[in-house]
Amino acid sequence: MVANIANDQRLGFQTLDDEVSVDRLPVEGRIPEWLTGTLGRVTPAGLDTGGRHVRHWFDGLAMLHSFSFSGQRVSYANRYLRTEAYRRALDPGARQPRGFATDPCRALFKRVVSIFSPVAYDNANVNLARLADEYVAMTESPAPIVFDPRSLDTVGRGEEAPGQITTAHPHYDPGPRQLVNYATHLGPSSTYRVYTRRPGEGHRVLGELPVREPAYMHSFAMTERFVVLAEFPLVVHPLDLAFGRRSFIESFRWEPGRGTRFLVIDRATGRLRAEAGGEAFFAFHHVNAFEDGDQVLVDISAYADPSIIDGLYMNRLRAGEPIPPSELRRYRIPLRGGDARGEVLAGRPFELPRIAYGRTNGRPYRFAYGAGQRSATSVWWDQLVKIDVAGGEARTWYEKDCYPGEPVFAAEPWSTDEDAGVLLSLVLDPRRGASFLLVLDARSFTEVARAQAPHVITFGFHGQYFPSRDAR
Ligand SMILES: [Fe+2]
Repeated sequence: MVANIANDQRLGFQTLDDEVSVDRLPVEGRIPEWLTGTLGRVTPAGLDTGGRHVRHWFDGLAMLHSFSFSGQRVSYANRYLRTEAYRRALDPGARQPRGFATDPCRALFKRVVSIFSPVAYDNANVNLARLADEYVAMTESPAPIVFDPRSLDTVGRGEEAPGQITTAHPHYDPGPRQLVNYATHLGPSSTYRVYTRRPGEGHRVLGELPVREPAYMHSFAMTERFVVLAEFPLVVHPLDLAFGRRSFIESFRWEPGRGTRFLVIDRATGRLRAEAGGEAFFAFHHVNAFEDGDQVLVDISAYADPSIIDGLYMNRLRAGEPIPPSELRRYRIPLRGGDARGEVLAGRPFELPRIAYGRTNGRPYRFAYGAGQRSATSVWWDQLVKIDVAGGEARTWYEKDCYPGEPVFAAEPWSTDEDAGVLLSLVLDPRRGASFLLVLDARSFTEVARAQAPHVITFGFHGQYFPSRDAR
């Protein structure tokens, strides 16, 4: 634990040591009867472990959390992933694995192996996914970690991606029931590889594009026919990753003069269908994308530059420094040549975006949900936002001095309305000294219920709602 943390958003940057299992959380309001699945989340909950402090939020040790709904009750459990990174963190004598921005030693040639090899780096703290009966936690190294969704036990390493860097934001294609992702393969001739995975099978590379200096791309977009990579001008020379003296993310250079390059890849052939230049910007998260005649429209939570990465170092977060805001932008990528043009869809801060994924991903849609700063004085995300991307109108939810995280959409069965469902968001309530799970009506943006967690849940990135039946 870190001493002297103020009674504000900084409570969300404490290490969570407790591992608990609670059969029934106190609930205010009424949990919808149809909500019978599990919200799984993964957080970087180990920020100060074994006498060491991680440098960057993205390097906290991964902890799983599950909120399971049954008969209008909510149970809760949390458990650290038992990974090699976890074992080393608890061993004062062990060399620490290199993560996103943590760089404790300069062993030169071992560096790429150390950074990228899942043997050394398996701290899967970013996101969760399910493929058939397999549940995985993921980061940007190639091997996901398989876990048991009931016990939260760590099962082992999953199928390895065909590259040294991949994303923790795979897409799901319900037709062939496969995950779609991309990986950067580093070597004498580096490439971006688009790949798929079906249950019980290995990865299949759909296509690959040569790249001299790969960009840091945390996510990507997928439409019915295309995969779209937004190649921001935050790039790295592969040798700098191998032989440089900086950490993984600090090895990347911001070169705004390059602009952003959009790569549209045909999912049927694996070939490049279109390439378009655009203004320089940076993003972690794509919101959605779809085709419109001879254009592809891509919606992104965009930043002017990558200073958000620096804003997420722990010393700055624990000092209460404000993070820069991102905004929801739409880029129109012409398939017949020409530059991509961007427009702002809503002028309010918008991050950790979610949509009604099963209903709208890759297709025209209306509603995007996210978290953001409520005012110019907000130092952290302190409200939830619903944006009508067709009309730009927004609804918001906030509670004084509280800090909600990513709103995960859970679709109401038997309805096809895009916003019929609830949003599940973990909210830090510093006044109570604990977090609660907010259940928000996605249509009206009013509170349906809240379930009180037994402790502060360290701020995290992503989670997924897993229906009790396969409704995807
Ligand atoms: Fe992410």
